[in-house]
Amino acid sequence: MAGYGRFITLEGGEGTGKSTLISGLSETLQQRGKTVIVTREPGGTKLAEEVRTLALNPPAGETWSPLSHTLLMNTSRDDHLNKLIRPALQRGDWVLCDRFADSTRAYQQVDGQDLQTLLKIEQAVVGETRPDLTLMLDGAPEDLAERRRARGTQDVFEQKDLDFHARIRAAFLEIADQEPERCAVIDAVQTPEQVLNAALAEIDARLGRS
Ligand code: TMP
Repeated sequence: MAGYGRFITLEGGEGTGKSTLISGLSETLQQRGKTVIVTREPGGTKLAEEVRTLALNPPAGETWSPLSHTLLMNTSRDDHLNKLIRPALQRGDWVLCDRFADSTRAYQQVDGQDLQTLLKIEQAVVGETRPDLTLMLDGAPEDLAERRRARGTQDVFEQKDLDFHARIRAAFLEIADQEPERCAVIDAVQTPEQVLNAALAEIDARLGRS
């Protein structure tokens, strides 16, 4: 385990319902008496949120290379881990994080960054603070297209086409396949209540109902 507390990350493509699930999980876990910290990546601390803006919404006409994006995501992650996630886990809190290192592996790899470099940097930044459980929200990009449109906002990744979203989905599923003891794949094309129940079942089965 990553510390005294529990570290749960939520991963998946755009429009898979991560934000809705994280609110439901937070509420249920608090009702069970846990102290819950809800956070997100890129972001979660003051500096990391600044990096988020720079990474996802660069000045008009400017673009980041895949390596720059990889470094920016990991810069924000390092600050987030040091100032928020590790102290919370040491206190015994439950940390629910909307995206984490798997998003860098998936998005930046699909964008062209080689896996070896991604894994090397991930190891240097994440170290022993691996998630106890990663909930991977999965659905066909076509089935989630309406939800993506409804979100309204458009960052550099949300603007991409169906083929890009299909490749992101495949990259997440490959991670889940490689690390089944850490990753639970959850069908995102269900009602929010069904998704929440499926996630709670995974938490109870894998981390123990307490
Ligand atoms: P969000 O809209 O789910 O908050 O995610 C922000 C965007 O950042 C999303 O398009 C995925 C992207 N992203 C990366 O490319 N690499 C990363 O490491 C993370 C955490 C997010």
